[in-house]
Amino acid sequence: MSLVVFPFKEEDPEVLLKNVEIALAHPRVDEVLCVGASEDRCFAETSAAAPELARKHGKSVAVILQERIGELRPGKGDGMNTALKYLLEKTEHRRIHFYDADIVSFSQEWITKAEEAADEGYQVVRHYFPRSSTDAMITWMITRTGFALLWPRTALPWIEQPLGGELLLTREAAERLFSDPRVRRQSDWGIDTLYTFSMVAHGLSIFEIYMDVGKLHKLYGALTDLKTMLIECFAALKGLKGEDVPEGTRHRIEYPGPVRQEMKEKVGYDFERTLHLLRENWSDRQETLLELFPRKVREGMLAAREYPRFSFMDEEAWAETYLVLLEHFDSGDPDWVELLFKLWIARVLQYTTAEALRGYDHALHYLHRMVARYVHRALVGVNP
Ligand code: DGY
Repeated sequence: MSLVVFPFKEEDPEVLLKNVEIALAHPRVDEVLCVGASEDRCFAETSAAAPELARKHGKSVAVILQERIGELRPGKGDGMNTALKYLLEKTEHRRIHFYDADIVSFSQEWITKAEEAADEGYQVVRHYFPRSSTDAMITWMITRTGFALLWPRTALPWIEQPLGGELLLTREAAERLFSDPRVRRQSDWGIDTLYTFSMVAHGLSIFEIYMDVGKLHKLYGALTDLKTMLIECFAALKGLKGEDVPEGTRHRIEYPGPVRQEMKEKVGYDFERTLHLLRENWSDRQETLLELFPRKVREGMLAAREYPRFSFMDEEAWAETYLVLLEHFDSGDPDWVELLFKLWIARVLQYTTAEALRGYDHALHYLHRMVARYVHRALVGVNP
């Protein structure tokens, strides 16, 4: 039987409690665990409601605060790892599910599909779902790009949503992940990268299941909203750079279904507000750091201080930029942080105008092909 976990931080308690009820009503679920980042209003309301929900369903509902397990900023990583620790030390459940607390489209189907895939013997089941063509810009430009450039022979570049927070682990998979010091250390937004990485690094079998309802989470304003996540995700990848990953993971991806028009038309971020970010927070030191980058990137970025420029940051320029960042980026250095943010903004704006503007189907095809081309580049080299 299974444990369902909702890590949360300042969520709407109504959405969380509704999701807890949905999980409790599922026949495969024995217990629900809510892991709060702090004692906020959502924590108080969820704790207050838990005993009644437990009584109603005749199952356990635990609401706990996340522990300090890792070494980086205390964030989502500590929350997820607290849940793994709880599973392994306090329970006998055979499987653990994670769902982000803010999914408004949550239903029993999320649990059923994951359980059925695990019944086929997979050790990890990951949910994936359609996202807007201008959403998921860390996923595509940082995580999948990095996985392709660094581990082109493995399953890593082909994981659909490597930053996804909806997944199932068997107890054995949870043990493997939790016993990995790299995973326990990652207390921040880098946790999703670390979970994905170590699933493949430990050779666990993975089934990615497709949820056509999607997550319907709110989209972003200017891309500043994603700055911390971007930095922590890139830093996590850079920290893994020299690690060995085996090639032979068993990995299956459920074929996706048609995407609703509403999703195809959704704009992922505020273009105009993001454009301004290219001109912000420059320092003399950042200009010096630009000397490490190819000429085209250096000159383009310097010009962007005056007037928004980004068309230079195409797929190849981004690969070259990425490799320099892997070598030199320092997440403890504010100038590197600012520079990575602006370089990524330039890449996202270039992709948006050159590819996403041509429509959803074109854009998604482009992104998948981009990853395949980066894999090819890493294996075979750059075409003359
Ligand atoms: C991503 O890139 O996947 C992040 O969730 C931001 O959209």
